[in-house]
Amino acid sequence: MNFLTAGESHGKSLVGIISDYPSGIFIDNDFINLQLSRRQKGYGRGGRMSIENDRVDIISGVRKGKSTGSPISFIIENRDWVNWKDIMNVLPREDTGTKKEDIFTPRPGHADLTGVLKYRLKTIRDVIERSSARETAARVCTGAFAMIALQLMDINIFSYVERIGNISMDIQPNIDDSSIRDLIEKSEVRCPESQCSEKMIQAIEKAKKNGDSLGGSFRVIIKNVPPGLGSYTEWSRRLDARLAYALISIPAVKAFEVGNGLKSGSLSGLNYHDEIFYSKDKGFYRKTNNAGGIEGGMSNGENIVIGATMKPIPTTKSGMKTVNIINKEESISLKERSDICAVPSAAVVGEAAASIEILSAIQEKFGSDNIDEILENINNYKKYIKNI
Ligand SMILES: Cc1cc2nc3c(=O)[nH]c(=O)nc-3n(C[C@H](O)[C@H](O)[C@H](O)COP(=O)(O)O)c2cc1C
Repeated sequence: MNFLTAGESHGKSLVGIISDYPSGIFIDNDFINLQLSRRQKGYGRGGRMSIENDRVDIISGVRKGKSTGSPISFIIENRDWVNWKDIMNVLPREDTGTKKEDIFTPRPGHADLTGVLKYRLKTIRDVIERSSARETAARVCTGAFAMIALQLMDINIFSYVERIGNISMDIQPNIDDSSIRDLIEKSEVRCPESQCSEKMIQAIEKAKKNGDSLGGSFRVIIKNVPPGLGSYTEWSRRLDARLAYALISIPAVKAFEVGNGLKSGSLSGLNYHDEIFYSKDKGFYRKTNNAGGIEGGMSNGENIVIGATMKPIPTTKSGMKTVNIINKEESISLKERSDICAVPSAAVVGEAAASIEILSAIQEKFGSDNIDEILENINNYKKYIKNI
């Protein structure tokens, strides 16, 4: 599965094209819209999310509810566009001369300064519109298509937030607990521990009062992945590397971890590696999962557990020291309507990004044309492994 997204934050709409999506899959629009609305939620998001009500409009590649194998294209309208028609018009127009359009004070931590230099642009507006994380709505939509296919293979994905600013969960939650997903979805910050959720919300409120912003960390769990996705044979096929690319490409994500990767450097081999066991009903299994379900660049059959850390949002109400790109005078960075913390939302984007990679790895191993063919191949492989 490959995809391309386009669209500006305040343009007419976001667009996505997905190629190599298997045929024969029932596409549930409500499920896709649910994922889009999950991305919009989370304590700490700015005013924009109350304007938008993201909904997918599928244009091609699906007929009478089922994928046909042809490229899928979709649109997500930007409701805010009506307020930006003059500024964002694609036809030649006079500069409106408004503050929204003429932005010359780049934000430290954003694409603003390097974007205008790289593309020889006259205003930072041209950079902001595409570097904005509004793009992630199209990625979540694409990821929802991947999730629909993965659900047919009994592979499911969820995410939770483990840190916001300096508030973090003391212990890792039990990801096999049947109530965990409910607890996560009920929390405004996607944290399964209610007391910790409360403290995270307070931390966001404090940052808001101080005109500041916050980052944090989240984890994505992928359950029931067969062993052998990805490969050790070539660097670019390693599943851990591919998942790292998928997650690090989410705007503001600055660190990636597989399992207990961050701790791995401080533990000895005997304490870190997951010993191998065998039983007739489970087959090969582990009692620990420090490797996060990936060894040698391949899924090993355990839950895939990956983590990512997001830096604080670059736009702050207080602003930061910067230089005006026209007169080169010291200035205060652009203060535009912005999120204060978007870690819960980034976690939902992380689910989508990981789903796309897992489905692609499945297609590499089991075929990509038709879902029944893929399911047959997976079942045969599972039978082979069981009888080994
Ligand atoms: C879901 C989500 C929402 C975001 N919202 C904002 C925002 O409102 N304001 C902002 O300045 N940055 C926001 N960001 C972060 C910027 O998009 C990001 O920092 C910027 O594109 C620069 O890229 P970099 O941080 O990877 O260097 C958000 C990121 C994500 C994932």
